Amino acid sequence: MEKRAKLYEGKAKILYATDNPDCVIQYFKDDATAFNAKKKGTVDEKGIMNNAISTKVFEYLGQNGIPTHFVRQLSDREMLVKKVEIVKVEVIIRNRAAGSLCRNYGVTEGRTLSAPVLEFCYKEDAFNDPLMNETHILALDIATASEIATIRELTFKINELMKKFFLALNIELIDFKVEFGRHKGEVILADEISPDTCRFWEVGTGVRLDKDRFRHDLGNIKEGYQEVLKRVTGKAA
Ligand SMILES: Nc1ncnc2c1ncn2[C@@H]1O[C@H](COP(=O)(O)OP(=O)(O)O)[C@@H](O)[C@H]1O
Ligand SMILES: [Mg+2]
Repeated sequence: MEKRAKLYEGKAKILYATDNPDCVIQYFKDDATAFNAKKKGTVDEKGIMNNAISTKVFEYLGQNGIPTHFVRQLSDREMLVKKVEIVKVEVIIRNRAAGSLCRNYGVTEGRTLSAPVLEFCYKEDAFNDPLMNETHILALDIATASEIATIRELTFKINELMKKFFLALNIELIDFKVEFGRHKGEVILADEISPDTCRFWEVGTGVRLDKDRFRHDLGNIKEGYQEVLKRVTGKAA
């Protein structure tokens, strides 16, 4: 696999072309941002940990019937993925109240939700990733009705699978964000699944094992990611 030109540098990853036009390399950086990049920093070895965690989660989801962009891990910071045209919505599921749900609706952090909440946000940093509903997505030609239906169905399935996966590691999946893309006419799961994109609370203690340690300066940021990595891979970091 030959690594070619840099295609895009985002906040947490860099995409490179390869000699295969259907595949790109995702390179995981240590850069961390929060609150729509108003807060910036780095977390030592975050890229290595997120690549390894994402690899495990994509493998598990793939084995359980979720179509994903994951092809294989290439190195400690590089993952080979199918190239997609990203659907410009961030898809969020919330199992317990945290983050913007608390801010937007005046809800106490940690409140039990009677049913999972599905949210769509327009993936556009310039506009602060605003919440949108399915009629916005259709009206603005961001995705078709059939693509939205697929995304909804896949995201709820991903939620059930991930809740089970992490609960077995004594981690409660509070919420997560996923992105989908179009590849050869099919909508598949893309981007990453890691402590940058999920809220993970240790069962029993409620200890935060995710990017909230960085967002809210809780300390031991790297240790939180390492703990997730250790549980997901069964190995010490
Ligand atoms: N398989 C893929 N093919 C093409 N683009 C992808 C794929 N997976 C993720 N992306 C996009 O690549 C970028 C990854 O870098 P990231 O640092 O997360 O960027 P951003 O700052 O835009 O969130 C994102 O914009 C994401 O939507
Ligand atoms: Mg991103």
